[in-house]
Amino acid sequence: MALYALLKAMQVGEGDEVVMPAFTCVVVPNAVLYAGATARYVDIDAKTLNPSLEAIEAAVTEQTKVILVQNTFGLSTEVDRIAAFARERGIRTIEDCTHGFGGTFGGRPNGTWSDAAFYSTQWNKPFSTGLGGFAVVKDPVLRERLEAVNRELIRPGRRQAAMLGLLVRVKSALVNDTTYWPALRAYRALSRRGLVLGSSTGGEVSSTEMPEAYFRGAAAVQAAVGLRALAKLDALSARRRENGLRYNEWMCARGYFNYPDEVLPDHGFLKFPVFVRDRAAFLERAEHAKVQLGDWFCSMLHPVEGDLSPWGLDADHFPVARKAAAAILNLPTDTADPERVLAFLEREEGELVGESAFPGISSTAMG
Ligand SMILES: Cc1ncc(COP(=O)(O)O)c(C=O)c1O
Repeated sequence: MALYALLKAMQVGEGDEVVMPAFTCVVVPNAVLYAGATARYVDIDAKTLNPSLEAIEAAVTEQTKVILVQNTFGLSTEVDRIAAFARERGIRTIEDCTHGFGGTFGGRPNGTWSDAAFYSTQWNKPFSTGLGGFAVVKDPVLRERLEAVNRELIRPGRRQAAMLGLLVRVKSALVNDTTYWPALRAYRALSRRGLVLGSSTGGEVSSTEMPEAYFRGAAAVQAAVGLRALAKLDALSARRRENGLRYNEWMCARGYFNYPDEVLPDHGFLKFPVFVRDRAAFLERAEHAKVQLGDWFCSMLHPVEGDLSPWGLDADHFPVARKAAAAILNLPTDTADPERVLAFLEREEGELVGESAFPGISSTAMG
């Protein structure tokens, strides 16, 4: 919704194109389609899981109004150069900082290199308000327009606010390494049926029609939760980086997907990607070992299963993203017990996909 508000404020609509990675969350192209514009996808680079400037340049056309720059799993790449390229062409940049809040690129906070940025404060994000998010803009004219767009926000009712408050309390009191999997399954099943508030409504993952009551604002209870979480953000970010760097070393030493040294200072490690042969079996063993693996981006437009053509995405045109989505899972970086994760990886090493076989991408393209 923050992205939708930004696009409206930037007066993006019919006939305009928004360049974005072919490895994202479906709500991103949805916001573009709801605004009446077209999503133009770009393949990702196998070393960073982000599109390179070169690939973005090749996707830009006369119709491009915005370039979306995503900090995938907490890593920003080439944002300075992408922003400079866009500026020269009179194109706006928006950073998708849903994975990167609290992190930096080139010593500056994520989101500050571009004309605008949006952040998610959903359950698993760098800091959470339950559900929610926000946008930032630099240009005062854009800010004024954003405020005008915001006046159309639907305020959550009392029942929804109460339910959010309850979900936040339930999560913090009851979700731990043992209860994580059943709790996640129950939450997803209930939210699919519309019985509790979920990240997306069923309609957002099954069609490109804008749902009724889509443009909804946050409730006061979310702000209160967010402020408490914000106080812990620095400590949590430090832990994520420490764990992420350890996983990276482990993977590098054994020849599995790892990030090249030069991008490590810019990585916030919200999650750490791991590529496996049999995802269902690996997830089952992780549950047994009480390791909270994530399943983000198992689809190029997470979490849509199957045909992506309604979103204008033909998977065959984006081989790196397609292969990554076919084998990816994500290691938790917020854990206080990284040893357990590493011990699990040691035991299950035979299930990991190595550099040479990584979903079919050549070993020279890997870090
Ligand atoms: C890259 C990316 N952008 C946007 C979003 C949307 O965030 P939210 O769940 O707050 O709608 C997600 C969600 O995971 C995401 O991964």
